[in-house]
Order: sequence, then C-alpha cells, then structure tokens
Amino acid sequence: MQKGAIKVTKAATSKLSTTDFNNLPFGKLFTDHMLIAEYKDGVWGDAEILPYGPLRFDPSLTTLHYGQSIFEGIKAYRMKDGSAAIFRPYENLKRFNKSAHRMAMPDVPEHLFIDGMKQLLNVDEKWIPSAEDHALYIRPFMFGTDEVIGVAPSSKYYFMIILSPVGPYFSNPLNIYVEEQFVRAAPGGVGYAKTAGNYAASLFPAKLAKEKGFDQILWMDANEHKFVQECGAMNVFFVMDGKLITPSLEAGTILDGITRKSVIDLAKSLGKTVEEREISIDELLEGYKKGSLTEAFGAGTAVTVSKIAGLQYKDTLISLDANNMPVADLIKKTMAEIKDGSIPDSFGWMVRTNA
Ligand code: PLP
Ligand code: COI
Repeated sequence: MQKGAIKVTKAATSKLSTTDFNNLPFGKLFTDHMLIAEYKDGVWGDAEILPYGPLRFDPSLTTLHYGQSIFEGIKAYRMKDGSAAIFRPYENLKRFNKSAHRMAMPDVPEHLFIDGMKQLLNVDEKWIPSAEDHALYIRPFMFGTDEVIGVAPSSKYYFMIILSPVGPYFSNPLNIYVEEQFVRAAPGGVGYAKTAGNYAASLFPAKLAKEKGFDQILWMDANEHKFVQECGAMNVFFVMDGKLITPSLEAGTILDGITRKSVIDLAKSLGKTVEEREISIDELLEGYKKGSLTEAFGAGTAVTVSKIAGLQYKDTLISLDANNMPVADLIKKTMAEIKDGSIPDSFGWMVRTNA
C-alpha cells in the first residue's frame, strides 16, 4: 500500500436497514464505519477505515484525566441531483488545527482530515439522508493517548472520524436563559478552541437552565457580565433597526463559527448591513423596549439557523415573534437551498465527496 493510502475493512453486516430515517435523534445513531489514524514518534501514521465499534484503553489514558481533546462538527448533504457534498470542511480543518495548537496537540494534515473524510463518506454514502433539514453529521476528533498521569502534553494521539445521520437539533423556536453567574470563557482562555473542557464546564449551568425550562444558555463576558457572547452550541445574531448584528471575535472567547461566517457573507450578499461588534444586554433590552429589536437567532452546524423566541435576563423576558422573522427565514432558506443544490453555490462552499 502506498503512503497515505487508506486501508478499508468493511463491516460484516450493515445497520442501515434497521435504522429509521424518519426518526433520527441527534447524535445517537452511527454509521457502519469509522476512520482512525495514530500519531506517535512525531509523525502521523496512515489512516484506516474500520467497522464502527468500541476502543480499548488503559485507565491511565491522559485524555480521561486532563481532557486533551478537540473536535469538529461538519455536515454532508444529499444534493437534489442525488450526489453528496460537504459544507465548508476546509474551514473546519483550519479551526481544528487552531484548537490543536492551543491544546498543545499536533496539526492534522489535510490528507487525513479532508481525504479521510471523503473516503469514509464514500464507504458510508448510503447513510446520507435526503429529507429536508436532515444531513450526515461528521464528527472528526483528536485526543491524547499517552498512558501516564503526569500533567504534560501527550506524545501519542488518535485522530478519528465518526458519522451520525441526523435530523433537526431543535424543532421549535428557542427559549434562552441569559447567564449572569457562570461564565463559559475568559480572555486568554480556551473559548475559541473547540475543546472538550468548554462543553464539560457548560453542563452544570445548562442543567440548571434546563430545569427552569430553557433550551440553551446565552453566555456573557467574564469581566463585566455585560456583553453577550454565544450560546452552548451556536453563535447568536440579532436584527436591530433592520441591521444584522453579532458579537465580534477579537476577545478570543467565542467560537469562530463556520455557520456564523457563512450567515455574515450570505446576509451581505443579500444586501443586509452586518455589524460584528460588542453587544451589551442593556442595548438588547433597550432595543426590545423601543421595538427596534425584531429578531434573534442562533447559527451552528448542528442547529443550522434556529430562531429565538425568548431571552430571559433577570426578571425581564424579551419576547420575540418567531412567526415574524423575515431575515432569519430568508437566511435559513437560502442556506438550505445552497446546501441541497437548488440554487447555485456562488460562494464555493460545497465540496463534493467524490471529486
Ligand atoms: N459555538 C459553540 C459553542 C458551538 O459548539 C458551535 C457548534 O459548533 C458553534 C458556536 C457554531 O459553530 P459552527 O457554525 O462552526 O458549527
Ligand atoms: C456542532 O454544531 O457541530 C456542535 O459541535 C454543537 C454541539 C453538537 C456540540
């Protein structure tokens, strides 16, 4: 086998015929195969595609103790012509390696990330759903595999890709809790990295918010608890005075979302004014009082574009009419049309799986 070639071992049986594509709970079902590559002695070995299944580890596995683990979320879509395409995977590769750098992990080369993903998708190509709002969710991830409990960067890593057929992450407009006590990220921290610990730290506040009836938390800045940041699984956008505004990235405390940057480019191309800047909760409350805040929505790979109907801040509920959000509707519809090939992909976002 030539260097870089991917050895494929096919699963003896497929789960495809027993998977109900009309009922796809998010992230609970996985395809027949997975990709794995090992980094050791300073180099990446060849990737292998294997039947999906459990891994065995030593209890001292460094990642279990110190969380040296990063991941990405990407979607492959079934196009109207029957072919399949991945949404902006090169952007995810760039962000993955930024996360890797921050977490003292090695870069993953393009041939493992992109070519490996394409080959895995070709092996499990029948798993790409075609229903509206459905996709094959691609989860690349990397974690340290040293067997040692001293605190240090691992010398060995696994890079893996698994695939999960998914429907919509949220089916209704969201009720959001504006968090004033807990924080997600601080300047100088790891907020911009897609690393496991950011999600682990969000679970307890998110559990409390869920118990109060909310779908997600809107995080505030760590210093003053005044400026809105992002939600647990999505970036946020607001429409105020007809302008689309979203928190800026400079502080390094929020994820540089691929959907976020796509929404910005699309909105500009549709003639909207877009502002990336600090947004204080006071500005949103003021806009709500005056009636100039008309829309709010989240943007992310899993959630696509999800409208926000309620934002609870202390005793005040910002209540928005999800049935009257023309900007969110237009962006959601146009993105979906680009993703399934109904309209031309003038941005060059879609990457064919077998090109
Ligand atoms: N913010 C957080 C914390 C996320 O987990 C996600 C999901 O990936 C996003 C934002 C949106 O990023 P993207 O559009 O790249 O999926
Ligand atoms: C994504 O949208 O890909 C995410 O990573 C969000 C969540 C499932 C963690």
